Amino acid sequence: MSNSGEAELLHTFKGIRFTTRSSPELLKSLDTFDAREDDVLLVSYPKSGTHWLAGVITKLYNTQVTITSPIEFGDISRLEELNKLSSKRIIPTHLDYNMLPPNFKNKKCKMIYISRNPKDTAVSMFHYYRDNPNLPTVDTWTTFFDLFLKGNVVCGSWFDHFLSWEEHEGEKNILFLFYEDMKKDLPKVIKEITSFLSLSVSDNDIQDICDKSSFSEMKNDTEKENTDPNHTVCALTSNRKLIFRKGAVGDWKNYFTPKQNIRFQEIFNEKMKFSKM
Ligand code: A3P
Repeated sequence: MSNSGEAELLHTFKGIRFTTRSSPELLKSLDTFDAREDDVLLVSYPKSGTHWLAGVITKLYNTQVTITSPIEFGDISRLEELNKLSSKRIIPTHLDYNMLPPNFKNKKCKMIYISRNPKDTAVSMFHYYRDNPNLPTVDTWTTFFDLFLKGNVVCGSWFDHFLSWEEHEGEKNILFLFYEDMKKDLPKVIKEITSFLSLSVSDNDIQDICDKSSFSEMKNDTEKENTDPNHTVCALTSNRKLIFRKGAVGDWKNYFTPKQNIRFQEIFNEKMKFSKM
């Protein structure tokens, strides 16, 4: 990584890298956050399809819901702002399970964790590092590949993040989803979500939501600014235009060398040896 801006753009809290858009004071006070029983958390490691899922979920409700900016984004005043919201809150976060405010756990709030093939996640994050002025510059894919494998990137190690959540997979208030399943059969995933959130949505409406949530529709909406271009569900940018890049499964094959693939696989096998993935 060329070091331009790294010291100014990133800081480390409890061993995990955050951008300076997440203030240390806010991170320290998350433990005091007052959750509500009907809060829904939308959890992901960055670049796993958070905006896509958020777009789908907001369309499922016919009552007033607010998708907030991520809980770890901003300074200490954020907690007060979130407290004041009168509508039902859908709260995105990239926090790992251990850093999640305990109140969400105690109140058994519903949480949806979306995950994606870490190889595609790495490639997507590489582009994000390159395009996003809130992240340090990175010179080459090879450099970024090493950083990603070591967990020296924002939000820490993909493996640690995934495993921290997977440990709680069996809990009734947590739903696990995969980006690849959404690509394969979005109506099926939407039905899973509606059942988990106890919502009733007709098949016609589900089809309509699928049409409106396609990659091209969502990208066009952002370009036409049909959606607030400054509202992202990612604490790492407020620019929606940086989100919709390619929207494909398997793009990693265009980046990983055979040697990198073997190295990734070895580390994956070691780190994930007790995982069901
Ligand atoms: P790529 O960089 O591989 O294109 P997040 O929202 O967590 O930041 O994830 C961003 C990734 O999700 C990007 O991946 C983006 O293109 C993809 N994405 C966003 N909306 C999508 C959609 N409607 N369908 C498929 N992929 C989508």
